[in-house]
Amino acid sequence: MKEVSIITGASGTLGKSVTEALLKRNHTVLAISRHSLNKKNKNYYELNIDLSNLENIEDNKNEILKIFKIGIYEKINIIHIAGRYVEQRLPLKYDEINKWNEIFNINCFSFYYIVSILYEEIKKINNGTIIAVSSNLTERVNANTASYIASKAALEVITKQLAYELGQYNTNCNSISPGVFFSKMSSNISTEKMEEIKRNTPLNRIIDETEIKDVILTMLEDKMSWITGQNIIADGGNTIGF
Ligand SMILES: NC(=O)c1ccc[n+]([C@@H]2O[C@H](COP(=O)([O-])OP(=O)(O)OC[C@H]3O[C@@H](n4cnc5c(N)ncnc54)[C@H](OP(=O)(O)O)[C@@H]3O)[C@@H](O)[C@H]2O)c1
Repeated sequence: MKEVSIITGASGTLGKSVTEALLKRNHTVLAISRHSLNKKNKNYYELNIDLSNLENIEDNKNEILKIFKIGIYEKINIIHIAGRYVEQRLPLKYDEINKWNEIFNINCFSFYYIVSILYEEIKKINNGTIIAVSSNLTERVNANTASYIASKAALEVITKQLAYELGQYNTNCNSISPGVFFSKMSSNISTEKMEEIKRNTPLNRIIDETEIKDVILTMLEDKMSWITGQNIIADGGNTIGF
């Protein structure tokens, strides 16, 4: 089956891993992120778009749709991995609250807008999987991370809404909520904090991105297509560990 996968955040730790795995599976990949992956693969296409401003997506609408002129696909996958984490301590200043727009655009609104650009293709292909990467932090409270958590919670709800609207086009939509894993994003977390997270995780380890990549790959399989509108927490039990 010929599959096309549109991946945001493809230049990040998790995004790279998913992109490489899907190219190995012969998917045609359209990677979206600010930085280039410089990949030489005949099935690899990339667009460098800053998702913090939705006008940039609007400007690249036709470029995104060009991928459907290159091939005919039997399945479409949209995997939203792009994410930005900003620590914000109370009390906030005006320019910090202003950052919420950027964070919501990257983490959440860009996803909905990209899906809507692809809507006609989703209908035509009538076989799809949509995955949005959230965070297990939406299941708890956490200091200094209100904008990140709120944007991820909105992402989960939007994904449920998409599941409802796109089910008629044979497209399942789920979010995946990882706990902390080793990556560029988590590299600022201190060793002590990592140890504390590990202690509070029933499976007692901190993983790298490969296990989250495997959850995403599994959710793309046909045998998982009955699952839709769900948030799948992949965190070694951390959310029940306190
Ligand atoms: N690592 C963790 O512990 C953890 C835990 C729970 C959830 N997550 C989630 O997992 C996903 C992957 O995270 P990661 O750990 O692999 O982080 P990462 O290595 O920092 O990757 C983040 C990705 O987001 C993209 N991005 C950020 N700002 C962007 C912008 N303005 N425009 C376009 N793309 C932008 C980056 O691309 P460019 O910089 O090239 O633009 C990069 O590809 C994220 O959604 C994150 O919230 C991570």
